[in-house]
Amino acid sequence: MQHELRYSCQGVGACPAPPAYGQPGMGTLLIHKNQYQTFNKAVAHPKSKWQSLSAIPKHSWLSRIKSRCHSQSVASQHCTLLPWWHLRHTPLAPALRIGAHGYHITSLPAETEHHVVDLRSDTVTRPSPEMRQAMAQAEVGDDDYGEDPTVNELQSVIADLLGKEEAIFVPTATMANLIAVMCHCCRRGAQLLLGREAHIHVFEHGGVAQVAGVHSETLQDLPDGTFRLDELEHKIQQSYGSQYYPRPELICLENTHCSAGGRVLPLQYLQEMHQLAHQYGLKIHLDGARVLNAAVALGVLPSHITQHCDSVSLCLSKGVGAPAGALLAGRREFIVEAWRVRKLLGGGMRQAGVLAAAALVGLRHMEETLRRDHNNARSFAEGVYNLGSPLCSINPATVETNIVMMTTSGSWLAPAKLCELMEAVSEEEVATTGQAVSVRLFPWGEHSLRAVWHCDVSAQDTQLAGSKLRFVLDKCEREQVQVC
Ligand SMILES: Cc1ncc(COP(=O)(O)O)c(C=O)c1O
Repeated sequence: MQHELRYSCQGVGACPAPPAYGQPGMGTLLIHKNQYQTFNKAVAHPKSKWQSLSAIPKHSWLSRIKSRCHSQSVASQHCTLLPWWHLRHTPLAPALRIGAHGYHITSLPAETEHHVVDLRSDTVTRPSPEMRQAMAQAEVGDDDYGEDPTVNELQSVIADLLGKEEAIFVPTATMANLIAVMCHCCRRGAQLLLGREAHIHVFEHGGVAQVAGVHSETLQDLPDGTFRLDELEHKIQQSYGSQYYPRPELICLENTHCSAGGRVLPLQYLQEMHQLAHQYGLKIHLDGARVLNAAVALGVLPSHITQHCDSVSLCLSKGVGAPAGALLAGRREFIVEAWRVRKLLGGGMRQAGVLAAAALVGLRHMEETLRRDHNNARSFAEGVYNLGSPLCSINPATVETNIVMMTTSGSWLAPAKLCELMEAVSEEEVATTGQAVSVRLFPWGEHSLRAVWHCDVSAQDTQLAGSKLRFVLDKCEREQVQVC
């Protein structure tokens, strides 16, 4: 048996006694080949996803990691991989502040493969070899002069897909949403109506207020991601033509709705919303970061959904699996204005064709990828439901796309604790299940946690995640019984 250092989120305090570092054959640091190749490219097992640093003379790899730690460019994900012994090397201590997780050491049979299933978000994907090849070969030009042929192709493909006259490529969906608000809301202090849980309202740092000078009026979101049309109309009527209320100019919707757990807005609702907005001369912007998921779930063309909106943003670094980028689509004159606002926000990316090329590859496989993600999410949700655990529950009927929200019950098992247990690998797990599986989840609310499927999660990963949850919940239930 060989001691291996494995990262997990046990917390530094939870590290058991370390093996004596420096003894031959001990202290293998496993590093994921793709993810952490920046550390070392020297030794890799041809068939494994992992590469080992143990075969390298310790001083050389230690100093390599040390120098990484002291460089500004080291990312927190790299730091989290540093094993326990960095604690004993004071110059490496700053890494602790950067990395969120600690390490623990398990004595695992050397042949046990450590499997990581990352379900925190659909943004964690890595570009496929096909994407990387397309990126390397992309024809590029200066997109700020409209001269990048690959960006131009992407913009035209997306405009067609979303049934809009034109589209503009921007770095993020956050920027696409902000540009849309700035273009639709003509006056400072204009009123924007949106759901209280909308991504634009909660997670975009109030850009609509900070940058656009727009006033948000929020509505109570329903569990399916909609809000009540009569409540909306009442708010519009209150302000409409009034000298005392801000002027309503824009409604923002989100489809699929992230906080609601990837729920798809019904087409009938969108149609009624469209009529209402038209009646009062308001515009509709759709935060369609995951609108392609909505289209696949409904079995319609994306343009069938977006016909009810004046503009739509689409994120490429989620379901499409591209490394970065988003698009904003709408009428020609709207996109002309959007181009100016993108300039104002510093969102022109010059030779952005390298990013557009990756997105074009992702879009080619989009439908089958998203359908597979949705199926995997549903099968996981059904598995959790069938466990019937008193500690963690789920309503499979609410799982419409690639997001699964789970609810923890009582104060015994907080979402953050469950996430921690799902990521940690214990000797008991290996002994009981014969597997070492880390499942990364996102603690969402006071009693909820989130799992998101994406192109880097297979059906087998999904099964492993389900078995890991069963193992963790069984263990917690046994411990709970003992405590009681
Ligand atoms: C619904 C929704 N809109 C917008 C965004 C922002 O995307 P980006 O990270 O590209 O700015 C996200 C990101 O998670 C999202 O979920």
